[in-house]
Amino acid sequence: MTQKFDFHVNGKPVSLSLDNEETPLLNVLRNELGLMGTRFGCGLEQCGCCMVLIDGVPEKCCSKPAWSIAGKAITTIEGLGTPERPHPLQQAFIDEQAGQCGYCLSGILITAKGLLDKNPSPTRAEIATALDSNICRCGSHNRILRAVEKAAAQIRAGAKL
Ligand code: FES
Ligand code: FES
Repeated sequence: MTQKFDFHVNGKPVSLSLDNEETPLLNVLRNELGLMGTRFGCGLEQCGCCMVLIDGVPEKCCSKPAWSIAGKAITTIEGLGTPERPHPLQQAFIDEQAGQCGYCLSGILITAKGLLDKNPSPTRAEIATALDSNICRCGSHNRILRAVEKAAAQIRAGAKL
């Protein structure tokens, strides 16, 4: 039976009808809404590259059924910044060359945003703990940690969000 879902994505209201309410949120974002920044990696909630913010909390969405997001606010990587006006996290990742292949980065940026929204002055250990669920197979971990620290400092100094 077709089900209708109302929720918000990147600040915009979305109303969607789906034949299968168990359709994962990741498929909804990519296939129904054309938001391709959120990546499919393992599909098993193991790698973190499908991370989005749900009501401000970073969550993997590859196995999260559509019915569970009704009425909620989703933020994807497309909601962080633009090439012309990057979020301080995105700028810091560019400055620190924190990506290699880049496949993990949208998930890592979303997790980092969730962390900095909650804790603007995280220690390196707190950043590493927050990013524990995000796998980077390229091994860019040190540069990623440096980039998150840099973004946190810039946001504290008043960088525009
Ligand atoms: S694709 Fe969701 S955790 Fe790997
Ligand atoms: S930069 Fe390649 S997986 Fe992280």
